[in-house]
Amino acid sequence: MTLNFDHPLRPQFHFTPAANWLNDPNGMVYYDGEYHLFYQHHPDSAVWGPMHWGHAVSKDLVHWEHLPIALYPDHNGTIFSGSAVVDWNDTSGFFEGKAGLVAIYTQTEMIPDSDLSIQRQSIAYSKDNGRTWIPFAGNPVLADERFPDFRDPKVFWHEETKRWIMVLAARDRLLLYYSADLKAWTFASEFGALDGSHDGVWECPDLFELPVDGGDGALKWVMIVSIGDDPACPEGSRTQYFIGEFDGLAFTNDNPKETVLWLDYGRDNYAGVTWSDAPDMESGRLFIGWMNNWKYANLIPTDGWRGAMTLTRKLKLRQGPEGVRLVQEAVESLRQLRLPGSEWQDERIGPDCSLLGGHQGGLLELEAEFELDTASEFGFKVKAGGKETVIGYDAASGELFIDRSDSGIMDFHAEFGCRHTAPLPAKDGRIKLQLWLDRSSVEVFADDGGVVMTDQLFPLETADGIELYAAGGEVLLRSLRLYPLRSIHALTAAEAAIK
Ligand code: FRU
Repeated sequence: MTLNFDHPLRPQFHFTPAANWLNDPNGMVYYDGEYHLFYQHHPDSAVWGPMHWGHAVSKDLVHWEHLPIALYPDHNGTIFSGSAVVDWNDTSGFFEGKAGLVAIYTQTEMIPDSDLSIQRQSIAYSKDNGRTWIPFAGNPVLADERFPDFRDPKVFWHEETKRWIMVLAARDRLLLYYSADLKAWTFASEFGALDGSHDGVWECPDLFELPVDGGDGALKWVMIVSIGDDPACPEGSRTQYFIGEFDGLAFTNDNPKETVLWLDYGRDNYAGVTWSDAPDMESGRLFIGWMNNWKYANLIPTDGWRGAMTLTRKLKLRQGPEGVRLVQEAVESLRQLRLPGSEWQDERIGPDCSLLGGHQGGLLELEAEFELDTASEFGFKVKAGGKETVIGYDAASGELFIDRSDSGIMDFHAEFGCRHTAPLPAKDGRIKLQLWLDRSSVEVFADDGGVVMTDQLFPLETADGIELYAAGGEVLLRSLRLYPLRSIHALTAAEAAIK
């Protein structure tokens, strides 16, 4: 197979499958120096179909090595989303007293002559660092045919009760189970039928504990839940979270039921969950999402591959005026991609700004701090040249926005071209933005990661300009750092010499 990593829309520092279809990240686990990333994969086509688990590993969460398919459909069905853990103490008995990897995932079987399916949970184990997987002979390990939607198990070890906990999505709620051995599961509790947003089917949960404000701060539990596309919602599929407590059996929401907390205000961050067993988990959780939206996922104008992951982010908790909230930062190891950058300080930006003249908006990382003044709107125009995508701040409404309504290729879906917003109150009159621009996406981290927007863009090949703009007056640019980035597919000089 020739790999086409050079296509003008192929992401250059985001994970994509070598070929064909990708959706949810699955089974992320760190073991023996490697970050494993499995993913929903259709190896025979670039549209969704019978699901397998594709597989890649990384030592730095930036460069990925593609490995053979890890899990294939079998007599129990196709392989939907799920998780993986290190069974350090061989609770499963699969590893002759040693440690090994166990994957826990949904298998889906279509009911003949209908659109309905049966979804049950299965497990598989690996004794060779995830290279080969053996489905457990007793699969499925958890079935409940009262629930036609019964999927996406996320499992973790709960030290206080010394047992495994599984959280699973069942249409409009989450079900929690516990187990001593990953094989026999007992129902513990349910959560969420009346909490948060129910704009779509609930999918891909995650549950973990983090300190508030780092260090020795109080601990809180975070429940992540993705919600599927409802054709009536322009946003399509997206991800919410809850903050609360977990006592080993049940999760309780700290906020009123109607509070909705969005993990990402962009259109393209779905089904994300966190890594198991990662180093330094106490300081933050490593998260990756599928950078797509079920509204148009099967239609995006890629060629030979379809689907990408977001950047890997570290999730932390911060105490804010409205309560405890998630903050996200792109992982530090991405810094290795920086090429020599440019810096500016204390510039007045007005309507005729040409500060970035001569710079190109190809692959970029950018950090800016603005002080509000008379401008009603300001920000960046990226992938500019005939078409453009605007990442801006509306001072009157106090909102960050991405406007991709004239961004390039948009005709594959009527709702792709749009402008959408996130509330972003200025702090001491200032706004901070960090922006990651790849060939076909932008990720914006504002307010030190408190507000995030992730969007795909499909610019015209000729549109690689970047501009700083202000409208209706001036804004003070306190600081700007701009780094062109190296592609993860580019060979280093040393690698090229060996080839
Ligand atoms: C979420 C999802 C999961 C399911 C998988 C199937 O995007 O619908 O609920 O397990 O994708 O590919």
